[in-house]
Amino acid sequence: MEKMWAGRTAGALDREADDFNSSIHFDSKMYKQDICGSMQHAAMLAAQGIISLLDSNTIIDGLQSVLDDIESGKIEIDLDAEDIHMFVEAELTKRIGDVGKRLHTARSRNDQVALDVRMYLRDETEKIIGLVLDTIDAILEQAKANTNDIMPGYTHLQRAQPITFAHHILAYAMMLTRDVGRLKDAVKRMNYSPLGSCALAGTTYPIDRRFTAERLGFDGVTANSIDGVSDRDFAVELLSAYSLIMMHLSRFSEEIILWSSWEFKFVELDDAYTTGSSIMPQKKNSDMAELVRGKTGRVYGDLLALLTTLKGLPLAYNKDMQEDKEAVFDGVETVAKCLRVFAPMIRTMKVIPQNMYAAAQRGFINATDLADYLTKKGMPFRAAYKTVGQIVAYCISGGKVLEDMTLDEYKGFSVDFEDDLYDAISLESCVNRRISEGSTGPVAVAAQIEIVTEFLKNEKH
Ligand code: ARG
Repeated sequence: MEKMWAGRTAGALDREADDFNSSIHFDSKMYKQDICGSMQHAAMLAAQGIISLLDSNTIIDGLQSVLDDIESGKIEIDLDAEDIHMFVEAELTKRIGDVGKRLHTARSRNDQVALDVRMYLRDETEKIIGLVLDTIDAILEQAKANTNDIMPGYTHLQRAQPITFAHHILAYAMMLTRDVGRLKDAVKRMNYSPLGSCALAGTTYPIDRRFTAERLGFDGVTANSIDGVSDRDFAVELLSAYSLIMMHLSRFSEEIILWSSWEFKFVELDDAYTTGSSIMPQKKNSDMAELVRGKTGRVYGDLLALLTTLKGLPLAYNKDMQEDKEAVFDGVETVAKCLRVFAPMIRTMKVIPQNMYAAAQRGFINATDLADYLTKKGMPFRAAYKTVGQIVAYCISGGKVLEDMTLDEYKGFSVDFEDDLYDAISLESCVNRRISEGSTGPVAVAAQIEIVTEFLKNEKH
């Protein structure tokens, strides 16, 4: 196929080189954005008297027919084309003849691709936001169903203090609410139209950049044409927001994997989200959670790849920048795939409260509360901390837990101990007496549920 840019060069491109140069395998995803951008560009050219209204309408109708035929499957995108921009223009000209050749007036593929990628990522990020909200919703449902279920809270993966399952998983809901904020924030900064930057220096035609920007849903135009075609920081920002989502999902996945093991058995995943082993008949593996954890590295890789591609590039456009798309497309697709299985996996997960409670009964997770008990009787916290440390050591050597000790044994450590200590160290009291904002206590957790509910209501409006 003769290249549209043939003219300066006459010799044909080497086959391997042609293949190497082509981006159609991945940028064909942007056919819709490319066509919509071109339609508004043609409309602007006519409105500014740069081409005739008749030509503009012929171009717009022709583009619409190309779009319809791609969507209905009537035509296939030709993978021999150099990229989606060239394919659409060639297909248009095939249909409407020479008029099609007027479309590329006052435009370059450099501003065209910068426009298409922004629009594509805007659409895809909107979908990601919906999926994150759905995941938050799934967590919220589980939290509401398990507000009274006590489990050990951990630090260093050592049992630390009793908490409720609702409190624990709401931590992830909070992280994901910030992820939504980051995505929206990145889109806000990205949403300026580079169209009209042309190759890099702008144009001598009397174009109206605001016309196309407004019609294509942008908040304005990029202020510098060189920046407009050179910058890909929006893709980096989105990839870092995607990376953070993956990091959160990965930590949650890791816990789900642990909790599903026989060593914990705090939860059981629904059969729909687990697999068996080809050899060990007893296995029920958390493959989905493992894959989410595994794919996190891949999204980090996409971010690093793009950052590295961009770091040495002189202004303005360089072909290196074609590499932006594979990285950011892979990132957005991977995050979407993960979220699509993660939310229902959480929603259908069975929680096993008795196992959590049994784990909470061992490991001296009420030791802090015993120290607080002494402090409230007047002992300085550091002294109380030390006394309880000695009591724990005594229990360990005697093979018992704090609840097993008699009052006499307690009095041997401090005369401040009285009969009410047993109530103070019951797991229920440890949880229920936590009254600080954000804590694991029932009032505080109800407030957190309210915060997340409100967040979802506002986001879904
Ligand atoms: N396929 C190219 C890309 O994705 C389009 C821009 C080409 N521009 C150019 N000056 N060769 O970057």
